[in-house]
Amino acid sequence: MESGRLSVSGCIRTHPEQCMCIQPPIPGWPSNAQTNCKEKEGKKEKDLTVKPIRLKQEDAKLSIKKLVAGSIQDTDKLKPLETQVAGHGTGDKISHRGMLHHANGFVLKPAQAPPKGTREIEFYETISRSLNPVDAKLYSFMPKFYGTEKISLDGLPHSHYLVLEDLTEGMIAPCVMDIKIGAKTYGPTASAAKIAQEDAKYLGTKKPLGFSVLGIINRSGQNGSMKRYDKSFGMELQTDSVKKILQVFFNTPSEDRQVIEKLVQQFSVLLSDVQQFFETQTRYHIYASSLLLVYDYKIFSDATAKLNSDIDPQISKHVRLKIIDFAHVFPANGIKDRNFVFGLDNLCKLFADFSAK
Ligand SMILES: Nc1ncnc2c1ncn2[C@@H]1O[C@H](COP(=O)(O)OP(=O)(O)O)[C@@H](O)[C@H]1O
Ligand SMILES: [Mg+2]
Repeated sequence: MESGRLSVSGCIRTHPEQCMCIQPPIPGWPSNAQTNCKEKEGKKEKDLTVKPIRLKQEDAKLSIKKLVAGSIQDTDKLKPLETQVAGHGTGDKISHRGMLHHANGFVLKPAQAPPKGTREIEFYETISRSLNPVDAKLYSFMPKFYGTEKISLDGLPHSHYLVLEDLTEGMIAPCVMDIKIGAKTYGPTASAAKIAQEDAKYLGTKKPLGFSVLGIINRSGQNGSMKRYDKSFGMELQTDSVKKILQVFFNTPSEDRQVIEKLVQQFSVLLSDVQQFFETQTRYHIYASSLLLVYDYKIFSDATAKLNSDIDPQISKHVRLKIIDFAHVFPANGIKDRNFVFGLDNLCKLFADFSAK
């Protein structure tokens, strides 16, 4: 995988309590395009007396937008996203365009035809700009959004893409799992045919447990060779054999059990943050979105050579969990998203049971 980085320094504040930094290249591993920059908070607050925060936000957004646009149009840096595990452009639908990886730490998601594509773009635009605290919290569970771009590849007409944070950025050997949340995976506007089509899939997990495993990439061996599990894995799962999901994701038989325990604990912490948020939020009902779980297989080679106590400080850098895919978001009108919560509760249980084994 290429390891190009953004070549400027800057800081964009998207919410009062949130700050993203674009950092210059850091030699060696790991390196992320974005990090928290709490240590700079004090300095930032002083600056507010010089320029209103709203104007500072707009300035910063404009400059990052220009920066992204300039670098995104460099199509030599684009290639298909190797770690795409599900969605349009995978499987037998080879005529579809898939996700792209940009060497500067972004992924590009092709906008779907309206209304799905427009709904997803509008949702990212709204949430990433909103100062509402519920939206700000929700955005912290999503990949950072850098706007949309029209790009022409291989002399074809321009296509519209969402530019997003690459959730595998900086990882040497990412293991990835896409889990769609909800027993109901269609919105209130779905046709009878769409409802029938959705309800007929993932029978062992979707209705009984409120989630569907769309795809997994795991690794094995010294060189971390990659294995893909496509949607047929999730479709064939039986309700009483769901422990297979984490056995495959963590490749249990062949790897270090103590490290796996730490990974499971870290994912459980991230998962319960999302769960607590959905227990209280009544602004959105989110259908057919996924959790993307990512960890770096490199943790095994780093940690096994060391004492167990050395793993803890490292683990959070090697583990990410975010919500992706927002083509079916609807207003909640003050009502809890029980469909999403049901799936999250059962996923939390899956991790807890795996840990307790
Ligand atoms: N921000 C991201 N960073 C890294 N990989 C991503 C990101 N967003 C999506 N992916 C990869 O692309 C796949 C499809 O993304 P998704 O947004 O669900 O598209 P679709 O609308 O086609 O289902 C995911 O399963 C994941 O493998
Ligand atoms: Mg998807």
